[in-house]
Amino acid sequence: MFCHTAHNSKPSSPLWNRNDAGSIYTPYSSSTLKALPGQPSGSSILCLSCHDGTVALGSVLSSSSIISFANTVNMPAGPSNLSTDLRNDHPVSFVYDAALTTANGQLINPAGLPSEIKLENDQLQCTSCHDPHKNLYTDFLVASSQYSNLCNACHQQTSWATSSHNTSTRTWNNISPNPWTTTPWTTVAENACENCHSPHNAGEPKRLLKYQTEEDNCLVCHNGNVATKNIQAELTKTYKHNVFGYTGTHDPTEATAVSTRHVECVDCHNPHAAKALSAVAPAVRGPNVGVAGINQSGIVVKPVAYEYEICYRCHSDNPVNSSTTPRILIQNNVRMEFATSNPSYHPVAGIGVNTSVPSLISPLTVNSVIYCTDCHASNGAGAPAGPHGSIYPQILKAQYLLTDNTVYSVSNFQLCYSCHSSASIMANASFKEHNKHINDKRTSCNTCHDSHGISSLQEMRQTIAI
Ligand code: HEC
Ligand code: HEC
Ligand code: HEC
Ligand code: HEC
Ligand code: HEC
Ligand code: HEC
Ligand code: HEC
Ligand code: HEC
Ligand code: HEC
Ligand code: HEC
Repeated sequence: MFCHTAHNSKPSSPLWNRNDAGSIYTPYSSSTLKALPGQPSGSSILCLSCHDGTVALGSVLSSSSIISFANTVNMPAGPSNLSTDLRNDHPVSFVYDAALTTANGQLINPAGLPSEIKLENDQLQCTSCHDPHKNLYTDFLVASSQYSNLCNACHQQTSWATSSHNTSTRTWNNISPNPWTTTPWTTVAENACENCHSPHNAGEPKRLLKYQTEEDNCLVCHNGNVATKNIQAELTKTYKHNVFGYTGTHDPTEATAVSTRHVECVDCHNPHAAKALSAVAPAVRGPNVGVAGINQSGIVVKPVAYEYEICYRCHSDNPVNSSTTPRILIQNNVRMEFATSNPSYHPVAGIGVNTSVPSLISPLTVNSVIYCTDCHASNGAGAPAGPHGSIYPQILKAQYLLTDNTVYSVSNFQLCYSCHSSASIMANASFKEHNKHINDKRTSCNTCHDSHGISSLQEMRQTIAI
């Protein structure tokens, strides 16, 4: 009777025993949303006559006075009180048709929805996910939220099937914070979409993310408590991609070539696609698949084929930082430093030009290609792969002293010596004066070599008349 009455109901189906709340709602919105959710309508407005918290639960048409409850009048504050601000709730009261499927690209065509998922007059409403008469699953859901069966009835995120966030059976070690406060499930795979998204009361309304601060959505697990790799520990080091330094700047619709300085986990990772898969340089590896980038020609690629294309979003034509070493002819555009038309470069975007590099340590040869992250990565044995954080400047994987006048030791230039034999260099296998400069005169490699390459725009050719 709190919902229906046989007589004198509101003149609308389904013999409704309540007046609408009459509230003005703030609907869900985001830069990626294609649908147009308006003021709640259909069954949603009926649910909200209790669940927005503005109307007494006992206010029914069939009774002239408000039916009283022992503890409460209106819906008590808490998860069941959605309030009139629906921005942090899954969008409702919009047309979900084939045209929306086309516009979005990652939705099931509504004609193919499983029978338990119902639209009302083509509209998605509260009752598309909840059946107030049937509590087969928790929360009156029409399908189980385990493995995100409910979400996947409508959504098909690209590459989701093979993503670690869909397949991992990792559990939580019970050290606070709890990554799964709204679901009964205990593995990453079972929580699936709800590892990161909340259909209601989301901490960050846009895209219904659990936490407002971008990286919190990831570090709640990548802190040693759920995932095997502790990324949070790397980010306590001095030199890092400082994801903590920027909040609210990243947007998934931003231009691929980043012009407003920032960096977030999702600039380099696609949480719907990331997986464990190795590859051969320069091909992108599993953790970074499905991300957008800029290719060696400066053209946007979605998704990237090569890992360095991700870095060029921020370190090429609109570099977020300038060169560390002041060269006479400056080159801040990392993309230009690695161009395969350059006179000299480390082989990241293609095989190198030098056919005689005697110092290379096997299995490296002059035909090898390397990753940016062979040099820029977390330091330390067993550290997670990737340029997250290092105790060495420029997020270098190993020590590399840039300045002159330090007594020579192999460890000063450990980075280079991970691929080039120190014995070969110091025995002058190529440059006859290596040992004299490096050892006797304490000259850093960086004084003569640029670790990326020399752009053809930096070439200084002089014709000397004799
Ligand atoms: C007459 C008032 C009223 C209406 C109308 C109403 N609800 Fe509720 N609903 C409640 C109350 C009261 C609770 C219990 C809240 C609590 O325990 O905090 C509840 C709880 C729920 C829960 C949580 C169940 C649980 O196990 O915790 C869901 C889901 C829900 N309602 C969905 C709906 C949907 C969907 C509609 C519309 C089809 C709807 N409700 C309409 C009053 C109402
Ligand atoms: C896209 C699916 C979806 C839609 C649409 C939806 N809900 Fe829910 N709702 C859920 C899921 C899933 C849960 C279970 C809690 C969880 O997993 O976070 C839930 C939980 C709830 C709860 C329990 C409190 C809570 O947050 O746990 C209430 C109440 C509720 N929904 C009401 C509504 C109302 C009212 C509407 C319409 C305005 C609505 N829901 C629309 C998916 C949906
Ligand atoms: C009944 C179908 C249906 C179900 C079930 C469903 N969704 Fe949705 N969802 C949609 C549609 C349709 C949109 C609108 C997409 C658009 O406009 O591009 C949407 C929008 C969203 C958005 C906002 C996207 C944006 O670009 O701002 C998120 C996040 C989302 N859903 C997550 C979920 C999660 C998590 C679940 C499971 C708890 C879920 N959805 C269940 C149909 C559904
Ligand atoms: C590991 C965390 C994580 C998981 C798991 C996850 N998402 Fe997301 N999702 C995100 C983040 C973060 C964004 C925003 C990305 C950005 O800001 O660039 C997002 C964006 C979205 C969007 C809006 C943009 C788009 O790509 O369409 C939708 C819809 C969405 N997710 C639905 C889902 C569904 C459905 C699932 C489960 C099948 C899911 N997500 C699983 C983190 C996650
Ligand atoms: C609920 C826990 C959880 C959350 C939240 C989460 N992850 Fe994960 N993530 C995992 C687990 C578990 C794996 C599997 C690999 C492992 O155990 O380390 C994984 C794997 C990954 C991988 C590597 C693929 C692999 O398997 O080696 C990347 C990259 C990743 N996550 C990024 C993110 C990003 C970015 C976010 C936030 C948008 C995020 N994760 C949020 C638990 C989580
Ligand atoms: C979305 C933008 C973005 C992307 C993508 C990105 N970076 Fe960065 N990078 C930054 C920002 C911003 C800084 C400056 C430090 C900070 O504020 O976190 C930085 C700093 C660095 C530094 C240290 C520079 C110095 O002067 O100390 C290195 C090295 C670096 N990034 C390498 C990479 C590599 C390698 C990749 C690709 C795997 C990459 N970056 C991808 C934004 C980005
Ligand atoms: C062979 C090792 C090596 C490789 C490969 C490498 N870097 Fe570097 N990078 C360095 C060293 C050493 C420095 C610090 C000295 C300097 O600035 O020249 C540096 C500096 C930087 C800086 C700071 C600003 C600057 O330009 O000096 C950025 C940004 C950067 N690298 C990005 C990248 C990106 C992006 C890639 C891949 C496309 C890459 N690096 C590949 C060794 C490397
Ligand atoms: C500047 C780009 C960038 C940023 C920002 C970034 N990552 Fe990564 N991440 C990478 C790269 C590149 C790899 C290495 C892939 C490889 O070589 O296997 C990686 C690897 C990983 C891995 C797998 C590590 C392993 O050893 O298997 C996880 C998990 C991960 N990142 C999570 C995160 C999380 C969580 C954040 C935010 C707190 C984050 N990343 C921020 C670029 C980035
Ligand atoms: C991850 C492995 C790796 C690291 C680390 C590395 N190199 Fe190299 N280096 C190579 C490869 C492979 C080549 C061969 C390129 C070619 O044949 O042109 C090369 C070539 C060179 C060349 C010859 C380039 C030319 O065009 O003639 C110089 C000089 C050089 N490296 C210096 C350094 C210095 C200095 C460091 C430390 C900052 C360093 N390398 C770190 C792999 C590496
Ligand atoms: C005084 C300038 C100078 C310094 C300092 C210097 N180099 Fe060189 N290096 C050269 C020159 C010149 C060549 C080219 C020799 C040739 O092509 O015959 C060269 C060639 C190389 C090569 C390519 C050939 C080979 O031996 O494999 C590598 C690698 C290299 N240097 C690494 C290093 C490292 C590592 C350091 C620091 C420990 C260093 N260099 C310090 C001038 C220098």
